[in-house]
Amino acid sequence: MNIEQLAAELESAAPHDEQSLEQFRIRFLGSKNVLKDLYAAIKDIPNEQKRSYGLQVNALKERAEQKFLEAKTKLTTVNTGIKKEDLSKPSADTKVGAHHPLSLIRSEILSIFKRIGFEISEGPEIEDDWHNFSALNFPPEHPARDMQDTFFIEKGTNELALRTHTSSVQVRVMEQQEPPIRTISPGRVYRNEAISARAHCFFHQVEGLYIDQDVSFADLKQTLLYFAQELFGAQTQIRLRPSYFPFTEPSAEVDISCTLCASKGCNVCKHTGWLEIMGCGMVDPNVLEACGIDSKVYSGFAFGMGLERIAQLKFRVTDLRLYSENDMRFLRQFKSGMA
Ligand code: DAH
Repeated sequence: MNIEQLAAELESAAPHDEQSLEQFRIRFLGSKNVLKDLYAAIKDIPNEQKRSYGLQVNALKERAEQKFLEAKTKLTTVNTGIKKEDLSKPSADTKVGAHHPLSLIRSEILSIFKRIGFEISEGPEIEDDWHNFSALNFPPEHPARDMQDTFFIEKGTNELALRTHTSSVQVRVMEQQEPPIRTISPGRVYRNEAISARAHCFFHQVEGLYIDQDVSFADLKQTLLYFAQELFGAQTQIRLRPSYFPFTEPSAEVDISCTLCASKGCNVCKHTGWLEIMGCGMVDPNVLEACGIDSKVYSGFAFGMGLERIAQLKFRVTDLRLYSENDMRFLRQFKSGMA
């Protein structure tokens, strides 16, 4: 090989990893490197050309050394870059989840009632006819038992269905406990409804029950006023309208003064200044008796509300379907809790 050929080879060589760098070193700088032949040939070069020939071979050697160093530095720098950890770097962003809006509302409601001595009770979602209907004074032909409202699991004598309300839990508590009873029962309930923005085949309720001697309607109203003001603010007012439920007598629907427009009238309260939030009443003596409680000694009140309805007022979410679709864009908005 002559100088020109070797010079060309040297220029085109591009050692890119440890192996090719070692090959390059052996060929151009090792103990049997190719330049040695060129040096050895110097004795056959005519005297007047010896100097420039020598200079050219020296230049080649320097160029080889330079290339080797460059490639070696590049390789070790890249390697260190990968291996070295920067301990002062802030840690990667940890993804923190959010509570589901209905969980937030449920905890808030439970803590409001816990502060005045209510205990939490829960019951099964699959209920028998007795706990969901009969003990609650539903006459056998009551339309709420109809197939259109209830998801039946087993028809016949031992009828089983998905509970249609959490009032079933108050029956279970009264069967098991002696008065005084103060209990609050959160849970999921089911109704055979077509799914839309305003109705769903399942939703969530909180049922309240207070049984003792001399419990009056005034106690009920005062308890609900306390609740409404704790949840919606001290300026909130309540109003009770006569209504009907089989398990309470008298019964009422509870409205709160519209929190969005301060009762001035807006789209949400349909310009009435009031928002309906729950049903309530004095527990019907038939229900007390069915659950083994002497209705001549004891009286009590009960109330029941939908969590979705309260969440709608608190968070202004108007489409019920959002609560069960698990759309992260919706759920992430509740990271800051109730605030
Ligand atoms: N269970 C009723 C419903 O599902 C809500 C309700 C109304 C519960 C009045 C009560 C009550 O305890 O007294 O619509």
